[in-house]
Formats: sequence, structure tokens, C-alpha cells
Amino acid sequence: MLPMGAPKTVLLTVAALGLAGAAAGALVVYGGLYNVAATVQHTQPVHSLLETAMHQSVKLRARNIEPPRLDDERLVMRGAACFRDKCVQCHGAPGVAQGDIGKSMQPLPGPLVDARHHWKPRELYWITRHGIKMSGMPAWEHRMSEEDLWAVVAFLARLPDLTPQQYAEATRTEPPGVQGLLAAPACGAASGAAPAHPGDVRRGARAIFQYACNACHTIPGVTSSSPNVGPPLEGIGGRSLIAGKLANTPDNMVRWLRHTHEVDRLTAMPEMGVTEQDARDIAAYLATLR
Ligand code: HEC
Ligand code: HEC
Repeated sequence: MLPMGAPKTVLLTVAALGLAGAAAGALVVYGGLYNVAATVQHTQPVHSLLETAMHQSVKLRARNIEPPRLDDERLVMRGAACFRDKCVQCHGAPGVAQGDIGKSMQPLPGPLVDARHHWKPRELYWITRHGIKMSGMPAWEHRMSEEDLWAVVAFLARLPDLTPQQYAEATRTEPPGVQGLLAAPACGAASGAAPAHPGDVRRGARAIFQYACNACHTIPGVTSSSPNVGPPLEGIGGRSLIAGKLANTPDNMVRWLRHTHEVDRLTAMPEMGVTEQDARDIAAYLATLR
């Protein structure tokens, strides 16, 4: 016969184990036991676990993306320029070592020469656009146009076939030589593009942390370490002036965000290279903070 107390014992054991686990976790976190130094590697099992989780996450989220045609030579050349401008410092290229920033990061940004063997084009697009949280891989969504993102993917597909000489040729910045070879076209920033739609509150909320506004401002609805470099933006939508200078209208907010130093030459707020559309979206979000 089963003693009446058995289910209770099981429950108590589970609860005790749970508590012990939580206590161990708290000790690691609050006791500072986890070493965050980038001079210490993850162990191989931890590294493999994190990598698998990352792969599966990308696969799942990229599964419905339809890639455009990627074999157009101009697209590949444009991708080469984007790769040179935005990726080489961390990932390196054929015959080019990564810069100091990329060399000692943990996890290490690998050479992307074999990326096409590990990832489908739609997954490379997703990674480039959204970045990888807690790895140091930046999101390029607000730094590169849609076409540039795909251009880089087109270039990554070609990368394994390039010799160091061909890579150097594809990414040189000098004007075309006597031979008439085309130099890589510039990686076009979309900052001059006209806004395609009126300010969108939801896009604005996302754009805010993609432009690092929360590095200086505490902003309701945006996660941050509660910085106090710039004024907190709580209630900004209800204030009458922006930075004590401009009437608080949507157009003036866009002006402040895009041409900060034109409005106030001496302000400590930097110009963040915000595109017209992103500024409209951010202004729409800030207007909701009352
Ligand atoms: C500031 C450094 C940095 C820059 C700049 C950078 N990356 Fe990364 N990238 C990383 C790091 C760190 C990882 C994560 C490596 C890991 O988890 O194994 C990564 C991972 C990746 C991966 C996944 C690689 C794999 O197979 O694990 C791809 C693809 C990628 N980056 C593409 C790009 C592209 C394209 C650009 C340029 C538009 C770029 N990266 C710019 C740091 C950078
Ligand atoms: C490096 C720090 C820094 C960053 C990054 C930054 N700001 Fe600022 N911001 C400031 C400072 C400092 C001020 C105060 C400027 C002044 O009054 O002269 C300010 C002022 C402002 C104001 C006016 C506030 C008021 O009380 O009138 C707004 C709105 C604002 N910032 C929004 C943004 C947004 C949106 C971003 C991102 C696109 C951003 N800031 C990025 C430092 C920063």
C-alpha cells in the first residue's frame, strides 16, 4: 500500500530542489561568480549550446522571407562596397584581417567566407537586418536600405569564389583605372529618401533603441540602464518646447532629431544620422509620452 504521504514528499522534494536551484542562481548572479571577461572563452559545451540556440532561432524567424534574384553583377558589386564599409572591421575578408574591434570579441565574429554553406540567403538577410542579441553582431536595419541588405547577401554568396586579389579589386575605392574596370559603387545610405508614410508610433518605438537614444535618455517603454546623460523624455509629448528652443510640433521634433546642431550649435546631444522616415516615426512615438 502506498503511504498517504508519498505525493506530498514528492512535492516537497521538487520544491526543495527548485529553491536550491534558485539559491545557486542567485549566488552566481549576486555573488559576481560568473566571469564576464572577454579574455575568457565560453567552454565548448556552452559555446555549442548557444550556437545551436542561435541557429534555430534564425531558421525559425527567417522561414517566410522570399529572396529576390541575387545573381545580378551590379548587386554583387554594391554588396562588396557594403561589406567593405560595414562588415570587414569585425569579420575580415579574403586577405584582410579583422580590425582590433573584431579580433578579441567573445563570441568571435568568424570570417564569412563559408557563411553560404551554413545559412540560406534568407537567413543571411535576417541576421544582417536584425543582428544577434548579446553577441556584438549589430542590426543593420536602420543603417542599410533594403536593397543594400540584399546586396550584401548576394556578395556573401559570391565570397567563397573570390581570391584576395579579386576581393581587393571589387572593393577598391579609387576611380576606375585606364582599363575601365568599374570600382565598387558606394553602399548607399537611405538617409536622403523621402518618407514613405506618416509617422508610425510602433516603428518609432523600435527605431529609438536602434539609434541608441536610450544610451543617454530614460524613455518610457524602452529598456535601458536609466541613464542621465540627456533629460528623461517622460512627458515630452506634453511639453511646449523642445530643448528649450523649438515649439514642440512634429515637424520641429524631426528637425531637432535630424539637424540637432543646426538648432543648437553647442548642445551635447549628437546628430545621430536619423533618416527622415525614422525621425517621423520617433517623433510620433515621443508625442504619445504625456
Ligand atoms: C561590431 C562587430 C561586427 C560587425 C561590424 C558585423 N558583425 Fe556580423 N557578427 C559579429 C559577431 C560578434 C557575431 C556572432 C558570432 C557568433 O555568434 O558565433 C556575428 C555573426 C554574424 C553572422 C553569423 C555567422 C555565423 O555563421 O555564425 C553573419 C552572417 C554576420 N555576422 C554577417 C555580418 C554582416 C553581413 C555584416 C556587415 C553588414 C556584419 N556581420 C558586421 C560581429 C559583427
Ligand atoms: C550622447 C547622448 C545623447 C543621445 C545618444 C541622444 N540624446 Fe537627446 N539629448 C541629449 C542631451 C544632452 C540633451 C539636452 C540638450 C539640450 O537641452 O541642449 C538632449 C535633448 C533631447 C530632447 C529634448 C528634451 C527636452 O527636454 O526638451 C529630445 C526630444 C531628445 N534629446 C531626443 C533624442 C532622441 C529621440 C535620440 C535618438 C535619436 C537622442 N535624443 C539621442 C543627449 C543625447
